Amino acid sequence: MDKLAIIGGTGLDSLGILKVEKREVINTPYGEPSGPIARGSLFGKELLFLPRHGYGHNRAPHNINYRANIWALREMGADNVLAIAAVGGIRDDMPPARLVVPNQIIDYTWGRAGTYYDGGASDVRHIDFSHPYSEKMRQRLIKAACAANVTIIDGGTYGATQGPRLETAAEINRMERDGCHLVGMTGMPEAALARELGICYACCAVVANWAAGKTSDEITFAEIEDNLKLGMTQLVDMLEQLMA
Ligand code: HPA
Repeated sequence: MDKLAIIGGTGLDSLGILKVEKREVINTPYGEPSGPIARGSLFGKELLFLPRHGYGHNRAPHNINYRANIWALREMGADNVLAIAAVGGIRDDMPPARLVVPNQIIDYTWGRAGTYYDGGASDVRHIDFSHPYSEKMRQRLIKAACAANVTIIDGGTYGATQGPRLETAAEINRMERDGCHLVGMTGMPEAALARELGICYACCAVVANWAAGKTSDEITFAEIEDNLKLGMTQLVDMLEQLMA
């Protein structure tokens, strides 16, 4: 594989198995990324790692400097980015702790700096985003999961919401009618920015909870944490095969 970077998400923001050689502070024309970028090795292969919400989980989804994060990773040589993201499950076959590799996105976020081509210091460009994720990278993830005997769902539409609050049941109903299968807060503009810089980008979503209104229970942080822990175990098995 070419140079891989992982962006870790909620509950998945410390890759304990990563052997860190150094952490680099990168300044970008767009400001500072969520934190220093770790350069190290995972299962013996070179890897860059950035926790999307910062090392102390102190950046809410709408306050993440997505432009700086993607820019900094590219500056460090990443040409493949695996985004790990906690999500709510909408579709019946996407229960808590399941891994999903989405293939489409619907963007409900607003007010986020979402392009490098805004006509300021740069020109204005309109990238093709018909298929928002790298198919090659998606297939690598599916193959790795199969080799690791990890159940993973190939495809699904990721609905990106603004957060930081969770959704109402009516919002989830509307998203379901729109065709969303998963809901998360950080999938955009991250994917679009990676495409603008020509980075192969795919997402491995870990279902943390049933989306709002899908069960009669309140969504609790304890439940989210437990499911993410279960998801993380499977994710590590998948990563071992991915790096093999
Ligand atoms: N909604 C949005 N983002 C999320 C959720 C959810 O239910 N769970 C984890 N991230």
